[in-house]
Amino acid sequence: MLNFRQLFNKIKLPFFSTFDVCFDLGTSNTRIGIGEKGIVLIEPSYLGYNTSSKEYIFFGGEAKSIVGKTPDFIKIIRPVINGVISDFDAQFAMLQYFMKKSVNIYLDRYKIVKPQLRAVAAVPNSVTEIEQKAVEEVLYKIGFSQVYLIEKPLASGIGIGLNIFYHHPHLLIDVGGGLIEMSIISGGGIVSKKTLKVAGDNMNLVLANYAYLKYGIVLGDNTCEHLKIYLLNFKQENKTFTVRGKSLETGLPKSVRIKTSDVKEALYGNIYQIVDNVKDLIDISPPEVLDEIYNRGIILTGGVAKAIGLDQFLASELKIDVNSVTDPDDTVIKGLLKLTQNFPDLLKLAMPKI
Ligand SMILES: Nc1ncnc2c1ncn2[C@@H]1O[C@H](COP(=O)(O)OP(=O)(O)OP(=O)(O)O)[C@@H](O)[C@H]1O
Ligand SMILES: [Mg+2]
Repeated sequence: MLNFRQLFNKIKLPFFSTFDVCFDLGTSNTRIGIGEKGIVLIEPSYLGYNTSSKEYIFFGGEAKSIVGKTPDFIKIIRPVINGVISDFDAQFAMLQYFMKKSVNIYLDRYKIVKPQLRAVAAVPNSVTEIEQKAVEEVLYKIGFSQVYLIEKPLASGIGIGLNIFYHHPHLLIDVGGGLIEMSIISGGGIVSKKTLKVAGDNMNLVLANYAYLKYGIVLGDNTCEHLKIYLLNFKQENKTFTVRGKSLETGLPKSVRIKTSDVKEALYGNIYQIVDNVKDLIDISPPEVLDEIYNRGIILTGGVAKAIGLDQFLASELKIDVNSVTDPDDTVIKGLLKLTQNFPDLLKLAMPKI
């Protein structure tokens, strides 16, 4: 049965209706969703800035695809670093562009009176007040009249379909582009947490260093990311990928065949960092929650969770079941979308206004 608010929204009486837009402002990718439509945009969080004309001229995927190929007067900007806004103006310009591309067509349907715009955005579990304020400010500047912030692990739990309001603890690990967030959630809140500011993007750098030292080749960031996505897997599969870069010795183009075993060798340090920090989190967590977590297992999300067999590898190291979910990088935005359908729950989870 529809309640009053849902009914008003359904018949689109502009004076009463609200229009909810959800944001997962990730270090690598920005995801936007609209209540009724679901996910409407997934784009890399990149811009290209023309320093001569002082304009942002490339956005999202287009900006990411030209990294390392631009003339001096075009600067590539990543407005989100380690999950928080590091360049406010660039983040505003990028979100404004993404809104035009994906949301405004739905808003244009309200011909005469526009509905009230409400933003629901996810923030890292380690967010500071200043960082929180930056997210709110950028969304107000875009034109939202209300902004609700939800901590990412809580949104993710909802997105996976957990009833996070029960006092049944769950341990979630989100390995994204800029952050590894480990959180134990229970009773609608975070019981304990640990955050590392090295995740998928750092893995690209580590791979670049490895290729430089082992094969004497200089590789670009996008090439290293392709290598990681194509080759990293923890099953026995041994694939190879031929990459082109610049020879360290001659400065000329050079090709090298990189193997899965190379990528694993390069990234073991990063992976063991996850193992060690989950152990630390377990160590600092109340004993009451641990028994249930051992029984229920750990949930792995974030883009890096797509690496084949990473869940089993972590499970064998931690001696606890680890399960990655389908579309592990979309759990946060899906959770925010679900919350827009249940406003009382959204209010329960929203961070207090500063
Ligand atoms: N198959 C894969 N194997 C390994 N890594 C992958 C794979 N697919 C994507 N990634 C990595 O996942 C990361 C992006 O994940 P995600 O979209 O969850 O990050 P984000 O939400 O933007 O970042 P954060 O939450 O840390 O701010 C990138 O570093 C990307 O290279
Ligand atoms: Mg993320």
